[in-house]
Amino acid sequence: MNIRCATPEDLMNMQHCNLLCLPENYQMKYYFYHGLSWPQLSYVAEDEKGKIVGYVLAKMEEEPDEAVHGHITSLAVKRSHRRLGLAQKLMEQASRAMVECFNAQYVSLHVRKSNRAALHLYNKTLGFSISEIEPKYYADGEDAYAMKRDLTGLKLEEKTAVDKDVAALTVRDQDRPSEKKEDGHDHSPSSHKCCPGPTHGHSQPHPRHVKDEAPSRCPRTTLEGKKDTGHEGS
Ligand SMILES: CC(C)(COP(=O)(O)OP(=O)(O)OC[C@H]1O[C@@H](n2cnc3c(N)ncnc32)[C@H](O)[C@@H]1OP(=O)(O)O)[C@@H](O)C(=O)NCCC(=O)NCCS
Repeated sequence: MNIRCATPEDLMNMQHCNLLCLPENYQMKYYFYHGLSWPQLSYVAEDEKGKIVGYVLAKMEEEPDEAVHGHITSLAVKRSHRRLGLAQKLMEQASRAMVECFNAQYVSLHVRKSNRAALHLYNKTLGFSISEIEPKYYADGEDAYAMKRDLTGLKLEEKTAVDKDVAALTVRDQDRPSEKKEDGHDHSPSSHKCCPGPTHGHSQPHPRHVKDEAPSRCPRTTLEGKKDTGHEGS
């Protein structure tokens, strides 16, 4: 089983998985809206044959009066692959990417009041809490819980890891004997007055692709996406 960042080629299979698992369905253009606007935030779980068995579709919210935050539009894992920890991993990857790429303070979502499995996952496993009840949020009249998870802990984790990397590099530099060459000059790395080297902001592979390269910037768009149901089910 492999979790990786979703590519445009995955979007149709994500829609297929969504149709199998949830009553909240979206037009293909809404998947493209997510994939093109926030290519770092949506993830898929694939089996040994590369078949998509789960996904998380995520985006950033761009409301000026609110703290920067991400939103989980949809999450599902095929019945045959549930209780393997895939949903938990998909959610963790998306949340980490929200922090690393967009400096998100929190992540939000909606869930049906009756969805015990998802509520358990969000509340007990991932630490979301209910921020609001939205009456008749879903097309069939069911209420939704609006939930939020504070991501500032993830941000601290990232900062601590980067600080440790910087400290390790500094110690290594100090331990290194001075490399005096025939010209009499000190050529050891610590003697250079320019920038300290590869201490860029990411202590681990960039979330865009666990095995792949990071994008050089985080794209944004004002394109409006429309859903079939008008409701996000995460
Ligand atoms: C909700 C859903 C995404 C969970 O996917 P999953 O991959 O099976 O979840 P995980 O294996 O990562 O579960 C992590 C934890 O969530 C909780 N959980 C998951 N399924 C649960 C269930 N049926 N009952 C109670 N708790 C459950 C457990 O605490 C679990 O940890 P554990 O297995 O160590 O006890 C999946 O059931 C699903 O796709 N449901 C249909 C679509 C849906 O409801 N999406 C969410 C819409 S808001």
